[in-house]
Amino acid sequence: MGNINASIDLRRDGRIAIVIADNPPVNALKHEVRSGLSQALRQAGDDASVEAVVIACAGRTFFAGADISEFGQPPQAPSLGEVIAQIEAMPKPVVAALHGTALGGGFELALACHFRVAASAARMGLPEVKLGLLPGAGGTQRLPRLIGPEKALRMIVTGEPLGAAQALADGIVDEIAAGDLNTAAAAFGRRAVAERRPLRLIRDRDDKLIGEGFADAAATLTQRLRGREAPAACVEAVRNAIVLPFEEGLRRESELFQKLVAGDQSKAQRHVFFAEREAAKVPGMPEGTKPRPIARAAVIGAGTMGGGIAMCFANAGIPVTLIETGDDLLHKGLDRIVANYRATVARGGLGPDEMERRIGLIAGAVGLDAAAEAEIVIEAVFEDMNLKRRVFAELDRVAKPGALLATNTSTLDVDAIAGATSRPQDVVGTHFFSPANVMRLLEIVRGAESAPDALATALALARRLGKVPAVVGVCYGFVGNRMLARRSVEAERLLLEGALPHEVEAALVEFGLPMGPFAMMDLAGLDVGWLIRKSRGEHAVIEDALCEAGHFGQKTGKGYFRYQAGSRAPIPDPEVERIILDASAELGIARRKIEPTEIVERTIFPMINEGARILDEGIAARPGDIDVIWVYGYGWPVWRGGPMYYADRIGLEQVRDRLSFYAGRSGDDSLRPAALITRLVAEGRGFAV
Ligand code: CAA
Ligand code: NAI
Repeated sequence: MGNINASIDLRRDGRIAIVIADNPPVNALKHEVRSGLSQALRQAGDDASVEAVVIACAGRTFFAGADISEFGQPPQAPSLGEVIAQIEAMPKPVVAALHGTALGGGFELALACHFRVAASAARMGLPEVKLGLLPGAGGTQRLPRLIGPEKALRMIVTGEPLGAAQALADGIVDEIAAGDLNTAAAAFGRRAVAERRPLRLIRDRDDKLIGEGFADAAATLTQRLRGREAPAACVEAVRNAIVLPFEEGLRRESELFQKLVAGDQSKAQRHVFFAEREAAKVPGMPEGTKPRPIARAAVIGAGTMGGGIAMCFANAGIPVTLIETGDDLLHKGLDRIVANYRATVARGGLGPDEMERRIGLIAGAVGLDAAAEAEIVIEAVFEDMNLKRRVFAELDRVAKPGALLATNTSTLDVDAIAGATSRPQDVVGTHFFSPANVMRLLEIVRGAESAPDALATALALARRLGKVPAVVGVCYGFVGNRMLARRSVEAERLLLEGALPHEVEAALVEFGLPMGPFAMMDLAGLDVGWLIRKSRGEHAVIEDALCEAGHFGQKTGKGYFRYQAGSRAPIPDPEVERIILDASAELGIARRKIEPTEIVERTIFPMINEGARILDEGIAARPGDIDVIWVYGYGWPVWRGGPMYYADRIGLEQVRDRLSFYAGRSGDDSLRPAALITRLVAEGRGFAV
């Protein structure tokens, strides 16, 4: 972290010492913080007038963990483990005062204290698994002793934090502060002294260490690892807590941590952590640009995307009006939303009251006049330029001055849409991914005239909606779909040359993607692309033949695969195989066996190549932005860090050579290495460095 001005303040509240760490923004436990803390603890320990010690933090949160940017650097004493040992050796009560997000090493430090007092809004947990790690400062040994191995394992393997009330119920915290946190923590310390409460350390407890049910819980939690190593290491470490003495378990935890932190997966996941935060910063945005306030939204078009986008607003507590052209379509759209919410309630993902509250935030209306009250309007009508321009011209007439006018177009020129208004500075693209209420990515499309504060508003909105934003420029398909299109072309070629859909799927699922190109197309529906191709006079041999045979994807129970009623599991289909073999024969292609390595290279490398062009054109500002788009929009395996990071890892020289090879063999010049790749290889560099 850039900040070197970390400070540790030692205050007094009567005979209680309050150690207050201040290392904005999130009080990461970097070296200065650890050494300051250690010094303050020594001072408070040596001072005979101090009866108890409170460890607290200034600013927005208790320690949010180790400083991730220190990983991979030479360790500097004292380590977090040493500070923790110092806390446990204190002969006076030590109370942790938790507020904000007490995460990772911060939460582990709190677990070493004798007592924990939390603010009511505090959240706490061990998110290390999300960085490809396990808690490395005793969390895997102390938490099972405090709440039992099963519950601890769930927290450690999912990385999901708990709220203060749940933590109190589970016995993780001893008290929720009624008023000022530090005052309450000091009062707790004073009471502990007066009542001579025993200073029992979590490490010395074993009453909760019951192994029964652990194996089942571990199996359930690690069912779908998709190549990730860290969750299995978490299981091993927690199992050690049950079967090994504390010190031995701690030593093994540390070994597992060291292995993971030095490994490729965690490096990739740390890259994504920082890339995600970097992506929210727009190069060239004037300092201090303020987002415009948003109190009410309108969404135009109650179809697949409009409905999902309206749910995003309701989920974030923002009232929204969903607008259609007629009552029937409106009610259909609203009914679909209610059905979606009901399904979530039925799965236990939402309480019925909360569902009602959210549904209550969604109003329906016919006609664009209903957008007049909104500070943001998102258009999600059919993908038709004339229609979109008509809608925006009308919005120009009805929308409030300064309202953000956004289009959800997936391919069209945002500048041409903005040109239909007299206020292009207020127009941006907000490209949600389907299903909009689930997928985390938001591509924010910056038009030629989009004002800085319009972009800032879109970024702030993304955060409120719980989305991960990446700002991109105007081009066909923007970043994600433009790269995806390259993959689709190659995927069809692979079929014509000899691969079958399930072989392509298997190779890419093995690579770590949640699904391959054909299962994805089956999910989205093949008919959409077919209609577009027909209107443009384009062809895709196999896909066109499939559509002609009524294979529209999951919606018709058959696409590239067959689907049994009520199931989304793709089953290889002999009829599809016949269509593919016929297509190869018709084109005079002698089919051959294609190995998984070739399948991966031929689908992934052309995407990287397109990513390089996108960077060169300035459509994406940084390679990390492209990685964020693929991780959050398309389920790219986070432990592979995104396509551009992956390219750097395997080396651009190899990417260049393989692309040249495939370009030469196919005669397709679009596969030739992009100028940026050639340039970077000549300079001995990668995309990132
Ligand atoms: N180390 C270094 N930098 C960190 C950090 C950390 N642990 N956590 C956050 N930051 C930085 C971010 O990179 C960001 O920097 P910039 O402003 O320069 O971009 C800044 O702090 C603010 O972060 P966010 O934008 O994410 O702020 P937020 O308010 O949205 O979220 C948060 C706050 C919930 C704490 C979130 O930052 C977060 O989840 N952080 C990571 C927590 C974590 O994983 N902790 C475990 C660390 S590993 C560990 O502790 C190992 C161990 O066992 C010893
Ligand atoms: P859809 O066909 O499901 O819904 C469009 C809706 O807009 C229809 O209900 C239609 O009645 C309504 N509509 C048409 N003209 C209108 C008008 N003048 N006023 C109000 N409502 C009007 O389409 P879908 O899939 O939701 O797509 C919408 C937009 O989102 C398109 O631009 C599309 O390219 C884009 N998109 C679609 C994705 C997808 O996976 N379906 C993903 C990302 C973007």
